[in-house]
Amino acid sequence: MDQFLITGSSRIAGEVTISGAKNAALPLLAAMILAETPTTLHNVPSLQDVRTLIALIGGMGIHIQKQGDTVTCDTKTIDNFYAPYDLVKTMRASILVLGPLLARFGEAEVSLPGGCAIGSRPVDQHLKAFEAMGATISVENGYVKAQAPKGGKLIGCNFSFDMITVGGTENVIMAAALAKGTTVLGNCALEPEVVDLANMLVAMGAKISGIGTSTMTIEGVERLHGCEYSVVADRIETGSYLAGALMTRGDVLAKNTSALLLTPVLEKFEDMGAVITTGDDWIRAQMTGRPRPVNIRTQPHPGFPTDMQAQLMAISCLADGTSTFIENIFENRYMHVPELNRLGASIQVDGHTAVVTGVENFTAAPVMATDLRASMSLVMAAATAEGESLIDRIYHIDRGYENVESKLRALGVNIERINSNN
Ligand code: UD1
Repeated sequence: MDQFLITGSSRIAGEVTISGAKNAALPLLAAMILAETPTTLHNVPSLQDVRTLIALIGGMGIHIQKQGDTVTCDTKTIDNFYAPYDLVKTMRASILVLGPLLARFGEAEVSLPGGCAIGSRPVDQHLKAFEAMGATISVENGYVKAQAPKGGKLIGCNFSFDMITVGGTENVIMAAALAKGTTVLGNCALEPEVVDLANMLVAMGAKISGIGTSTMTIEGVERLHGCEYSVVADRIETGSYLAGALMTRGDVLAKNTSALLLTPVLEKFEDMGAVITTGDDWIRAQMTGRPRPVNIRTQPHPGFPTDMQAQLMAISCLADGTSTFIENIFENRYMHVPELNRLGASIQVDGHTAVVTGVENFTAAPVMATDLRASMSLVMAAATAEGESLIDRIYHIDRGYENVESKLRALGVNIERINSNN
């Protein structure tokens, strides 16, 4: 298992080019299953989760390959509709193949995603919507078996999600695109990645109105064709690197991204004392003094994103005062707290609330990455601490941050990957 050795006291400054969003690339790759003719997707990041989904789709007999940041896919040779546990267990987003398979081929067998480190994360809303569209769903031996009604087509319906779910909204709009009749979906997620998927479906011939609002209307079409599309910039990667500037009185220019994607995060950065300047496709964060404390409450988009909670907490550890965090999306998303405390932070958790008393500096320590975004908060904290910190279990970071070491090095972080098997 690889580890990062980080020698701290860095000032994080320089330019970083932002990759395509992992959380958009995954549903867009799943959507390729819907097309009868070849599809080309650009700006796809090279990440473990992307490789996993490509392997999953390829395992169905589909011709799919990635060269550079472009993925091409031709579904003509598909010979099964099966997503095995071995691949699904590493990535919850694998469930996103269920909607496309069911809608286009009338059947699917997909392993249930295993328990996840950041909470139990059920998929009941996905399944409830497919049932409302006439599918028969059973769960046997850890697999979801889904069958479309007689005739092999899902049937359009009115459905409102019980809670806002990003993956649920994505899975169901993909299914509805090929259903018979019209589907009206209420309480949809508004995340930019959902919008990106809806736009790609439209480019494939889908008829969707209300994109970017909480009610989407999808008029099912007979077939979808391939298209050429480019993945939206990764707003979480963008925010993660900009956060480094706030922690180290630094100056980070993020390119190939858009301020419109992360308004709630940039507002908090400004509240904490950063000077934020933006252009059409770049954002710059400059910081001179110690951060000011903040209060953060995670919410579905356009609220503050849960995927930036750990990074903002790492900044607030160094603030001149006390900050409060309330995590509303996931039940167990404070696993980075004990690790940040090992680095000298002072954080107390009570249920969904974390109270952070700012300290002057982090101190180096061996720590363990606990989930994808939490791992970036530890990397940034270690980069500011005086001395050497060893970060274990960095496979989490490889799931979601493309070329993380070279991007961090270009920003002045002294980071080395160690293969502990050697
Ligand atoms: C996506 C993102 C993830 C982000 C999350 C919230 C991807 C690949 N991942 O995850 O990075 O943190 O959105 O912004 O895009 N829930 C249910 N039943 C369901 C579905 C969800 O109870 O059927 C609950 C979940 O347990 C969770 C909440 O709803 O507490 C939000 O989950 P959801 O929006 O579905 O997150 P993901 O799509 O898994």
